[in-house]
Amino acid sequence: MRLGVLTSGGDCPGLNAVIRSVVHRAVVDHGDEVVGFNDGWRGLLECDYRKLDLDAVGGILARGGTILGSSRVQPAHLRDGVERAKGHVADLGLDAIIPIGGEGTLKAAKLLSDSGLPIVGVPKTIDNDIAATDVTFGFDTAVGVATEALDRLKTTAESHQRVLIVEVMGRHTGWIALHSGMAAGAHAVVVPERPFDVAELAARVGERFAAGKKFAIVVAAEGAKPREGSMEFDEGGKDMYGHERFAGIARQLSVELEHRLGKEARPVILGHVQRGGTPTAYDRVLATRFGWHAVEAAHRGEFGQMTALRGTDIVMVPLASAVETLKTVPEERYTEAGVVL
Ligand code: F6P
Repeated sequence: MRLGVLTSGGDCPGLNAVIRSVVHRAVVDHGDEVVGFNDGWRGLLECDYRKLDLDAVGGILARGGTILGSSRVQPAHLRDGVERAKGHVADLGLDAIIPIGGEGTLKAAKLLSDSGLPIVGVPKTIDNDIAATDVTFGFDTAVGVATEALDRLKTTAESHQRVLIVEVMGRHTGWIALHSGMAAGAHAVVVPERPFDVAELAARVGERFAAGKKFAIVVAAEGAKPREGSMEFDEGGKDMYGHERFAGIARQLSVELEHRLGKEARPVILGHVQRGGTPTAYDRVLATRFGWHAVEAAHRGEFGQMTALRGTDIVMVPLASAVETLKTVPEERYTEAGVVL
């Protein structure tokens, strides 16, 4: 077989582990040929690719980012390019395309699959918000980075008797905020799924100081919003890909909490540090398993599907089920954590 691989959307620790695994399974075990498209869908649309052999994937298992590069593509641009993409796939004699990506990439993958291209998807995102898979690789690494940062921030917050509002990634869901907040023992967590009452948040932090504690750590998912009317809030706008461009929940909350509590409050934005660097062992293993199973699915001719983790098994699920809804954090997970407003 001849396989094409690409990585699209926001990068994520573990992408290289998938690429390596695809090449090892396909080239070594099946005698296939593999090409990698450069910079995600752009590479497919412009037929910009490179050959991926064993040498090309040597030493990349533990490397963050993606050796293939990534990009975001506007959905309309991709829709207009479907026929071009099909032409390139035919010219290169590809029997299957394996796009590795998050929500946007998998939607694009479904579009191309519906148009007749042989697609096997692999889900990825640090946000862990893809429905149909229990976990995505990248999430464990991001939670680890955020947890380590929170541990470090606790000591400096205490020295200066400050409130630190730590903004973590999570556009639509609070998975990273919840897990890192729980792991580091944060004092309050705010998430996109549950608009919070700022008075309640201020009261919770205030009670902590009243009880003699010297500092407080609030974790805010970047997409968290205050309940309407509870404080003045700049929601930001949309970028050219239709994604929310946030105006900074941590910055806005630090001004509000300082004002309400009379305590020094500072924003800390972890940002892309959560996406960079080497993947954890868990993410390397999950990514490697996804790559192996994607090649097997291609050989079985199971197109229009993506790999997914269910319990301890890797299964194939329709791309449609992956993109129907986002996997938000269930209410009971917030309740049991005790720190989510
Ligand atoms: O989807 C993954 C993610 O890291 C989100 O958590 C975040 O909102 C977004 O990507 C940031 O995207 P960009 O790197 O394009 O700013």
